[in-house]
Amino acid sequence: MTAKDTTYIKPPMEVLYAKELAALAENDKGNKKPEGWLLSPKSIKTFILGSKAALKLGKEKVEIEQKFYGDDSLVERCIITLAGNRGLMLVGEPGTAKTMLSELLSAAISGFTTNTVQGTAGTTDDNIKYSWNYALLLAKGPVPEALVPGPLYTGMAEGKITRFEEITRCPSEVQDALISVMSDKVLSVPEFGEAGFIFAKPGFNIIATANIRDKGVNEMSSALKRRFNFETVNPINSVKLESAIISRQAGGMLHAIDEKIDIDEDIVELLATTFNELREGVSREGSKIESPSSVMSTAEAVSLYHQSALTAYYYEADISIDTLVQNISTTVLKESKDDLPRLRNYFNTIIKARAEASELWARFYEARKWIK
Ligand SMILES: Nc1ncnc2c1ncn2[C@@H]1O[C@H](COP(=O)(O)OP(=O)(O)OP(=O)(O)O)[C@@H](O)[C@H]1O
Ligand SMILES: [Mg+2]
Repeated sequence: MTAKDTTYIKPPMEVLYAKELAALAENDKGNKKPEGWLLSPKSIKTFILGSKAALKLGKEKVEIEQKFYGDDSLVERCIITLAGNRGLMLVGEPGTAKTMLSELLSAAISGFTTNTVQGTAGTTDDNIKYSWNYALLLAKGPVPEALVPGPLYTGMAEGKITRFEEITRCPSEVQDALISVMSDKVLSVPEFGEAGFIFAKPGFNIIATANIRDKGVNEMSSALKRRFNFETVNPINSVKLESAIISRQAGGMLHAIDEKIDIDEDIVELLATTFNELREGVSREGSKIESPSSVMSTAEAVSLYHQSALTAYYYEADISIDTLVQNISTTVLKESKDDLPRLRNYFNTIIKARAEASELWARFYEARKWIK
């Protein structure tokens, strides 16, 4: 990851990991690879799950870091699904890295991640397939240069992955526009008459995401479901892994601002423990906890630590437990005010008990005054 690259707020994966992808390509010789793919399934697995040994790139040694945590076999299955003739549907709670995974897969298979449909209630066929430059259409009629390709058209014509974010937010008739395309692998452009058929090139496939909090997955037509392999991306259920994700992800964003910012691993672990317990509804001691209705996702934990560290950085102080609890409180409040008593109860039972044995948890308990 190139920390100092300030060209982007959030560089696309193919830019962020350009060196890793080049090193993997250089060391990919001899591995079986589906037609139209930039890397072999083996190298893509290494790209997403990391490798212990650094890879040679010219005279350089390049580390391949782990990017997705918590379910290696899910990643293996996702890669093979995309090598087959079915699309990949990633479903799961918000903030479980469905989008991140679809971006990583797309960057490794096709070399870019921007060929994307952002599903909303307003998404139309045109947004997915193609539309027209009406000035040219009026001037010259339905000629190729008047056509404006959509992500599906581009993916099929160039043999690239098409990403479909939040597919279940789209009206079902728009979703169903994918059925014929996915079974026949051809997109018709009736305006072009006989020549109006775009046959999908090898390398084309669809990665769709849907979060199960939104309505929709159930309403998807069974005909469309049959064209996808469904993979559920579950929340991380290990404090150790969640801590690793928070340190690495928040650390990466903070070091893009200033490489000297230290990551406080004790506070990271405290935060990961809190999120894990509130999400799972059970403490590490085994006591039952009433979970808040808001999503205590790993993504939220990453941005919460980032926010708390930024506060310390810009106000030139150490990262403060008070700030952390204020940020936890606002996160829990996102969904409903009824969750505050649950958070208070968690502090007055689980954290209170833990405070007797640890100075850090005692400070955390003291900061309960900020839950409001
Ligand atoms: N298993 C995981 N491995 C690595 N990072 C993770 C994992 N789970 C969550 N994260 C972190 O959370 C962020 C998840 O963001 P992402 O937008 O991909 O989630 P999502 O599942 O698409 O959420 P939404 O349903 O709200 O769109 C990642 O950028 C990463 O920081
Ligand atoms: Mg997403």
